[in-house]
Amino acid sequence: MFDQDGYRDHESVTWISDAATGLRAVIAVHSSALGPAMGGCRLWHYDAPGAALTDALRLSHGMSLKNAMAGLPLGGGKAVILGPVNDAQRGALFEAFGRSVDDLSGRYVTAEDVGVSVADMASVARRTRHVSGVTAAGGVGGDPSPFTARGVLRGIEAAVQHTLGRSDLDGLRVAVQGVGHVGGALCGFLAERGARLIVADTNAKRLGQICDETGAEAVALDDVLEADVDVVAPCALGGAITSETAAGLRAKIVAGAANNQLADPAAGSVLRKRGITYVPDYVINAGGIIAVGAEYLGGGSEASVLADVDAIGPRIATLLAQADADDEAPEILADRRAEQIIATARKA
Ligand code: NAI
Repeated sequence: MFDQDGYRDHESVTWISDAATGLRAVIAVHSSALGPAMGGCRLWHYDAPGAALTDALRLSHGMSLKNAMAGLPLGGGKAVILGPVNDAQRGALFEAFGRSVDDLSGRYVTAEDVGVSVADMASVARRTRHVSGVTAAGGVGGDPSPFTARGVLRGIEAAVQHTLGRSDLDGLRVAVQGVGHVGGALCGFLAERGARLIVADTNAKRLGQICDETGAEAVALDDVLEADVDVVAPCALGGAITSETAAGLRAKIVAGAANNQLADPAAGSVLRKRGITYVPDYVINAGGIIAVGAEYLGGGSEASVLADVDAIGPRIATLLAQADADDEAPEILADRRAEQIIATARKA
């Protein structure tokens, strides 16, 4: 289990179990070179503990890159809780998780990710102060999802301008895979701007609700990535873009919220060969960490947080232009820049 790829790159990886609540979790701290390692906590059903570890390692590395590229004084970490959890024990389980976060004395700061709610983080906050995404004081913090969705919107606008030469989204066709907290909010923003939406989700009730609210057209799960659209926005789980799905895309742009969208580097190569713009996931989906980072670090106003989230648009415009100029894939350029920022901080 501990010879997983990427394990050696991490500062620490902690396995947690609590017999009283059934908690089983991994907390991975990839880097604290830039500051406390911050990244959400995911609750997911994994086939085996090794799969949870692999997920935690990939996600925590991604958080280091994301926080560096967003210019935050935060390192990268991530926690995963192995589901399912007993609903009757949920509050106590998250409190137990909070105790484990506290044991790390602020080297890891947690927040929401897939499967985890603001109420869960409130349970964590009973046991540690190293948690965020709990209260929205003065419009800063609380649920990160609307901030993530706003950042993804800014990234889509930048990619549309870069690739299609358009400065508005009216009539733009966008396929959104996964209409949960972020994907659903993104659909709302896109619909307000006149985009035509095609959506799919494994949760039929949520899908129906978003279609009713935004006028989106629901399609089968297998059809959403190959829909006849301008933009595909993966907003479910990671690995949506494989070499096969990349070969079948009809969109000119891939820009969404999900972490680790490319299943492997080969998938990125297929996109590039086909002239499809890929907006690196951790650059476009940083809005939530910008918001919960401001909540944890303190001192930010709502206006300054929104300005920082909106800055994702120009950052992506610059990245895509530079990638073109260097004849380089945007995800490779982004990785190199983020690693440079971390390496410089580590030396300092
Ligand atoms: P969520 O759990 O609220 O939404 C995910 C949605 O995807 C759910 O509605 C689920 O039913 C659906 N789904 C699952 N498998 C699917 C499939 N195969 N096809 C279609 N739909 C499927 O999660 P949330 O918070 O919206 O996050 C979405 C993605 O964005 C995740 O990858 C997460 O790591 C990433 N992300 C989220 C942030 C946030 O602020 N919530 C911040 C940065 C990244």
